[in-house]
Amino acid sequence: MQDMCIIPRPSETTLKEGFFQGRSLPPVTGDVRFSNETAIFRAQMNDAFERADNMRMRSESAAQSIVCAHGTGFADEGYGLIITEREARIEASGPKGCYRGLQTLRQLLAASLADSEGREFRIPCAEIRDEPRFPWRGFMLDCSRTFFSAAFVKKQIDLISMYGMNTFHWHLTDDQGWRLPVKGWPKLTEIGAWRTDYHVSAEPDHIVGGFYTEEEIREVVAYAAARHIEVIPEIDLPGHASAILAAHPELGCTGGPYAVEDRYGIFPDVLCAGTDKIFDFAAAVFDALGDLFPSRFVHIGGDEVRFERWKECPRCSLRMKEFGLGKPEELQAWITMRLANMLHERGKTAIGWDEVLHETEKLGLPENLIVMSWTGTEGGFEAARRGHRVVMTPMTDGCYLNFKPLDSQEEPGRLDITTVKQSYAFDPAPPVMTAEQAALVEGGQCNFWSEGIDSGRIAEYLVYPRLCAVAESLWTRPERKNFESFKGRLRAHRKMLDLLNVCHYRGPLE
Ligand code: ACM
Ligand code: ZN
Repeated sequence: MQDMCIIPRPSETTLKEGFFQGRSLPPVTGDVRFSNETAIFRAQMNDAFERADNMRMRSESAAQSIVCAHGTGFADEGYGLIITEREARIEASGPKGCYRGLQTLRQLLAASLADSEGREFRIPCAEIRDEPRFPWRGFMLDCSRTFFSAAFVKKQIDLISMYGMNTFHWHLTDDQGWRLPVKGWPKLTEIGAWRTDYHVSAEPDHIVGGFYTEEEIREVVAYAAARHIEVIPEIDLPGHASAILAAHPELGCTGGPYAVEDRYGIFPDVLCAGTDKIFDFAAAVFDALGDLFPSRFVHIGGDEVRFERWKECPRCSLRMKEFGLGKPEELQAWITMRLANMLHERGKTAIGWDEVLHETEKLGLPENLIVMSWTGTEGGFEAARRGHRVVMTPMTDGCYLNFKPLDSQEEPGRLDITTVKQSYAFDPAPPVMTAEQAALVEGGQCNFWSEGIDSGRIAEYLVYPRLCAVAESLWTRPERKNFESFKGRLRAHRKMLDLLNVCHYRGPLE
């Protein structure tokens, strides 16, 4: 049977006789404009659907309606979509399911409009019943190495919501720039948000960077919430801290001088584990996050910490003595514990990259800590064995979209290669996990690290369509996944991405 061109592939699809077709949909305006003439299927329709249990929109000719109705027996984000010649009817138990169903319809309409160059839509009649495999389906965007505008961030949020994702992980700080305003700590954005870009000129006069205003952050968060996407901020601590140290040298072991880094890599200077000032700093940052982000979680980083400064620092040595720690590496476990407790006091749960598991024999792990497995799958497996919830984003399994999509000098991308097929094969809870461990896998995400990225266009080129492949790996049950089917559906999505003004890779998929 021919597939409908939906990504991620729904749980059940039954094609029926006839078509839901016409020239014009209910006239709405908004962000996603397919053409000037054809009515627009705009994401803000979501708001209207959210307010109404039963809602009906008619096309201008009144020949077709789109209906959202309350239904029973659906999972939280599950929905039914019944398409007849006169009606596209979404049923769900609440607004989330309704929104996911609406995105499926949006894809069908967009693909069909793309096919006719915006003149008409024509969707086969069908019955779809659908629900996601995992509750966490995410995308991470690194806005430190490259500062992306709030408008670009919003565009990506809208796109990932079209592909059934529900989590946007916002990487806001790193060695190359600090992007978050924090009350009482103005140097973070005055100094930490800017760096000299030596790639452009040998002279120190080419300054790049930026930060988001509070207003922009609130706008992004609200924009995401309207699309049923939770925004998880990440503040990377205690490593990847050059931008923090440039602004506040007193937080480092040596006192500096430090600079916001223009180079890429893992730097020796990290926050000093021996000074309480780092917790005053973290408290101010967490308060700012609490004010701006309603998310249940805060990501505290924890990846790629180098320990040589702690080995040499008298204050860090004293701290180790105070807590009976034998190795500087254990100081990271101690910091993770402190930060997670500070977040817990603020009603938030901490997430850390998988290195937070290291050297924790003595101090253990914070009780509710969620582990994000990136170096491979083993960190996720270990965290689950230790009873912790896990988000899988292994760079070894197609989740790192900054890698080249193809082994070619002509392709952008860094460090390694990840094909679309590899992203498609990603399984966040593979059969090697026991049922008990698999139950702790919240889901997964793909990450886009932005070292060496000159523009949002290049970022999109690397993200799409591999994000579509990961989206299917997160939503669709393994028995419903099929790469040949995905390739077929991708043809329609390429046209759709063109129509949505999204740059995307078009080369070999494997
Ligand atoms: C990471 O890729 N350093 C989390
Ligand atoms: Zn120190």
